[in-house]
Amino acid sequence: MNKVLVINGPNLNLLGTREPEIYGEHTLAEVEAITLKLLKKNEISCTVEWFQSNSESEIVDKIQTLANGKTDLLVINPGAYSHTSVAILDALKSISTAKIEVHLSHTLKREEFRHKKLTALGCDAVIEGLGPVGYFTAISSQVYKRKFTK
Ligand code: DQA
Repeated sequence: MNKVLVINGPNLNLLGTREPEIYGEHTLAEVEAITLKLLKKNEISCTVEWFQSNSESEIVDKIQTLANGKTDLLVINPGAYSHTSVAILDALKSISTAKIEVHLSHTLKREEFRHKKLTALGCDAVIEGLGPVGYFTAISSQVYKRKFTK
């Protein structure tokens, strides 16, 4: 696997200070550093681009750039848009790239409105409740999936 894009949605730029009892104390830059450190430690070599936006349209635009087929994996945490955005779901459905949705928190244990995830319908898998390690888990799972797929 060569190229990975990680998209983080609204309010994830506030990680570290935003409800730390739910989302932890690491900033988004630290989550990124943890992911890269774990990839290196596990000898997984790939380039990872990190993109964060609070804007639904910017996230849709970014997903659409994957239509050129040059990216091997999209890891997306759409934040609150997971529960509401048909636009992001449609964008995810429009590309054939492998897609994994990640949530830092275990949303099924939280408010009922977080249980429904529209965007997950456009993804191949969902990983949630692992905190920052979820991003590494998503990327490494794809590496092993490829290795063990006949
Ligand atoms: C989140 C869960 C969402 O319900 C919430 O709106 C977020 C973060 C998570 O990573 O746990 O912004 O996606």
